[in-house]
Amino acid sequence: MIDTTCRIAGLPFKNPIVMASGTFGFGSEYGAFYELSRLGGISGKGLTLQPKPGNSGLRVYETPSGILNSVGLENPGIPAFLRDECPRWEKLDLVRIVNLGGNTIQDYVEGARLLQEAAWERAQEQRTAFDMIELNISCPNVKAGGMAYGIHTETAREVVREIRAATSLPLVVKLSPNAENIVEMAEMCEEEGADGVSLVNTFSAMKIDIRKRRSVFENLYAGLSGPAIKPIALRMVHQVSRAVSIPIMGMGGISSAEDILEFIMAGAETIQVGTHNFVNPRAGVELIEDLERLMREEGISSLDEIRGIL
Ligand SMILES: Cc1cc2nc3c(=O)[nH]c(=O)nc-3n(C[C@H](O)[C@H](O)[C@H](O)COP(=O)(O)O)c2cc1C
Repeated sequence: MIDTTCRIAGLPFKNPIVMASGTFGFGSEYGAFYELSRLGGISGKGLTLQPKPGNSGLRVYETPSGILNSVGLENPGIPAFLRDECPRWEKLDLVRIVNLGGNTIQDYVEGARLLQEAAWERAQEQRTAFDMIELNISCPNVKAGGMAYGIHTETAREVVREIRAATSLPLVVKLSPNAENIVEMAEMCEEEGADGVSLVNTFSAMKIDIRKRRSVFENLYAGLSGPAIKPIALRMVHQVSRAVSIPIMGMGGISSAEDILEFIMAGAETIQVGTHNFVNPRAGVELIEDLERLMREEGISSLDEIRGIL
């Protein structure tokens, strides 16, 4: 028997494979390729209180071993998610994660309150549509001239503290690799009562069109993801895992069962798969099978045997 189960904030994951926010929509399109309930979990597209149209201009540019994206958090807004997507999410048997964004503290807090209320109303009828909030602190802070919340620890602390106070739902904070000090950021999340951290989001990066003599993106910079970032993400997960005792969802360029075991050995409780879903829409289900096969080959009967061994 191979045991791939994991646990965060008491929530049981069948396996460590969670689909990363922004690369899986709310899951329905991928449901045409495999049974979603085989996954450990899904983190839905990042949601804000109000709908967001996202960025204009080019949004995705392929690079060697990765992609740059400048989607700009296009999303239908929390009320539309609750109305249109939650009925589908209610039927899924996996850990369902709402990824929450915002450009002001007030946006974030009102978003968290709406989610909390919706969860409470359903609970009265013994129903659930989502299990956890993943707080994305990489959003631009409008008040601070667009500098992301996730850069300075003390700016991020304010958001984490307010959200922790606004919801009793399990809370995982998603860290940016662009943070001044990602270890300090994770320690702050633990101090403020987060149930876990997920890392990493995309790396700030650039592509220049030399003929037009300007960035290919209207926003100048974009976020780099995919295999190109994996070694750096892995190092960050390892450093964070040595500094905090809350569980970690590790991600960045994961595209194979070997990659998954590396992140678990570095200390992650679960992992997330992002960009690889664009390469292979069946990635989720194939990784589950590959992981079990690899564990068998390596004589690993449970992920706990190897977690954080480095
Ligand atoms: C097109 C795209 C959209 C994304 N949107 C979000 C988002 O809405 N919220 C979020 O927290 N992360 C978002 N991310 C970041 C991913 O969830 C993930 O952290 C990152 O891509 C690194 O993992 P990967 O290399 O496996 O893709 C997005 C990434 C991509 C490529």
